[in-house]
Amino acid sequence: MSDEHTTPQGSRPSHRTAAIIPAAGRGVRLGPGAPKALRALGGLPMLVHAVRAMARARAVALVVVVAPPDGVSEVRRMLDEHPLPDGGTEVLVVPGGETRQQSVRHGLDALPVGVDAVLVHDAARPLVPVDTVEAVISALRDGAPAVVPAVPLADTVKEVEPAVGRAWEQVLGTPDRSRLRAVQTPQGFDRAVLAEAHERVACEGEGATDDAGMVERLGRPVVLVPGHEEAFKVTRPLDLVLAEAVLARRRAHDGY
Ligand code: C5P
Repeated sequence: MSDEHTTPQGSRPSHRTAAIIPAAGRGVRLGPGAPKALRALGGLPMLVHAVRAMARARAVALVVVVAPPDGVSEVRRMLDEHPLPDGGTEVLVVPGGETRQQSVRHGLDALPVGVDAVLVHDAARPLVPVDTVEAVISALRDGAPAVVPAVPLADTVKEVEPAVGRAWEQVLGTPDRSRLRAVQTPQGFDRAVLAEAHERVACEGEGATDDAGMVERLGRPVVLVPGHEEAFKVTRPLDLVLAEAVLARRRAHDGY
């Protein structure tokens, strides 16, 4: 990060880099209960972990949380109950939309003038290490318009014809695993590039599941930096067990 993004006193930089956390999904795959972002992990709501993970990066001076439209005041209250350990990062809460893509758009609309780099981070990846966040910011500052943390795949992947009304799915092909990566968040963007993608790229159905994919459709380059196994997405009940284990290990080893 260059000096122009820090103040002479070494305090938090002004709002040049902001993080948007879409947290408006219901998380139905986790099973019944509270919206996913509000589920407890190590005694704290998952969303609080995600906000802290972003705020831990020194360049991030603003975090915009996108809450379920009917849950803005609940999320605001919950975040106020768990303030950031170092109060230097501002946290805004705005209402989300029907799809993740719309929720990110609402977050983008809430960014103040002066923000030139944006991270988009899923609330569902509460344990991303700060080094991964910093690696994304650093590649952005080095001039990449879009940056994605990614990891190689453990499993072989099959492309299939989805079975509609049939017992079996038919395999169409097996992509070369060495050329595939699983992508994580935070994904980092030059603000203007991400705004252009949200303006110009229309996505059908559920909308985009990944902001970088929209930037690719603009024909702009997207680069990868190494992701981290602890940046996994909490999607199914077993992921909660793994997340608790990661937190317990951090507490034992780092007093985290
Ligand atoms: O459903 P999925 O796990 O892919 O959602 C990824 C992220 O997008 C989650 O953090 C979820 O809360 C968020 N999301 C959202 N608005 C929606 C749907 C999902 O902010 N309408």
